[in-house]
Order: sequence, then C-alpha cells, then structure tokens
Amino acid sequence: MIQINGLKKQYRSGETVVQALRGVDLEIQNGEFLSIAGPSGSGKTTLLNLIGCLDIADEGSIHIDSVDIAEKTRKELALLRREKIGFVFQSFNLIPVLTAYENASFPLSLLGVTEKELHERTVKIMQEVGLEEMMHRKPAELSGGQQQRVAIARALIKSPDIVLADEPTANLDSETGQDILDLMEVLNAKHNTTFIFSTHDQMVMDFAHRLVRLHDGLIHSDELTRRAAGGTKVGSRG
Ligand SMILES: Nc1ncnc2c1ncn2[C@@H]1O[C@H](COP(=O)(O)OP(=O)(O)OP(=O)(O)O)[C@@H](O)[C@H]1O
Ligand SMILES: [Mg+2]
Repeated sequence: MIQINGLKKQYRSGETVVQALRGVDLEIQNGEFLSIAGPSGSGKTTLLNLIGCLDIADEGSIHIDSVDIAEKTRKELALLRREKIGFVFQSFNLIPVLTAYENASFPLSLLGVTEKELHERTVKIMQEVGLEEMMHRKPAELSGGQQQRVAIARALIKSPDIVLADEPTANLDSETGQDILDLMEVLNAKHNTTFIFSTHDQMVMDFAHRLVRLHDGLIHSDELTRRAAGGTKVGSRG
C-alpha cells in the first residue's frame, strides 16, 4: 500500500519558484489500476517521481508498505526501487545496442539470479507481452508499440509490487496505445501488480479503474470508474 500525506514539492530555477505539488493526500491499495490525469504542468510527473523514490519531497510523507521513505538512506532507496518498483517511460528508454531479450532481462541480471532462472523468466515475460518471436531483435527493428511492450517486460521482470508509467502511450497511435493499456490491464489482473499511469488523454483515462485528477498541484477529483472490478468495460474493443 502507498500512503501519501500532505505532499508538497517546489522547483526553483533562478528567481522563480514553481509549486509543483501543493499538498497531495492519496492512498493507493495493492493491485490498483490507477490513472493520474491532468493537464500539462499539473504535477503528474512530479508525483510519480516522488512515489518512485527518484526525487525527494519538500513537505509531507510517502509510506510504502508502512515504511516512511524519507527515513531511508540513498542506498536503501535504491534497493527499494530495484526490488519493488518498475518504471515505464513515455519514450520507452530501451538500450539500443541490446536486443529486446537483453533489455527485458537486464534488471533481473543485476539481482544475481542463476543463468537458468534468468533465461526462464525472460522467455516467460516475453511470451506474456507477446514478443516471443521477436525477442532477438534490437529496439530499432521493432515498432513503437513493440518497444513499449519490451519496456513493460523490463518493468515487470522482477515481479515488482508497483509499476509507474509516465504517459506510457503518449508516443503511440491510439490503437497501439489501447493495445498497451489492454496488456497492462491483463498483467495487473494476473500478477496483482499495482499500476499507476499518468496521462492527459481521455482514452487512457477511460481505461483506468480509478481516476485521480490533478489540477495545479492539487487533487481535483478521485473516483472509481465504470471500468473498476465488476463494472462495465467501457472503451474495450472486440
Ligand atoms: N526540474 C524542474 N525545474 C523547474 N520547474 C519544474 C521542473 N520540473 C517540473 N517543473 C514545473 O513543475 C510543474 C509540474 O510539472 P510536472 O512535470 O510534474 O507536470 P506534468 O503534469 O507531468 O506535465 P506534462 O503533462 O507536461 O508532463 C510545472 O509547472 C513545471 O513547469
Ligand atoms: Mg509529465
């Protein structure tokens, strides 16, 4: 579970101070499929970076599984990120000289598992994202949607509790974006991984089971959507 209380973050560039988050309270349960939505500049990336322990808040607190992340050392935070959190980025961020297989297996290879386990888990995750046939291609030999699937495989290979995805479909056409969201939803249900994805796109918001809208650094609304468990699957194709 993620518990956020009174979170504030400001940025300073020269004389100017920008209040990116102005007091955010939010509780996220394990296994949620949640979208952080809001216009450009509303604080989505800032919030995701703080949850992902990539940056430090000025005020307020974030507890992940009851642990206050402000009390951790840099080293402990790196470990927490490595074990519990997977990241998916808008621009995929794959390593161009590595194959899809190597990109996906990379985070797991850092955890010191055996060659056999590394291979088995990588093949399995490549199957789950539907790229088994293409796993020896380099990113440049894959479409945008396929590259994002590799990024999702890379995020999930360590079986993290949380996947943070900052505008994961922003560089994809709408149909490919829907395929990526479908895949994320399947993986969310299958592994009970918490997915938190930001967007300013209505189509993406429609996929969320819970929609948190940010406005000018504050939560503007927070509601379960019709797509939440048991609800009508709006926006689903086929
Ligand atoms: N490193 C930084 N230095 C100065 N200001 C920043 C920095 N990062 C973000 N900001 C400012 O903080 C506010 C929130 O930015 P943030 O990137 O969190 O918004 P966002 O909702 O992710 O926007 P977008 O949809 O454009 O990605 C904006 O006003 C932005 O200009
Ligand atoms: Mg952003």
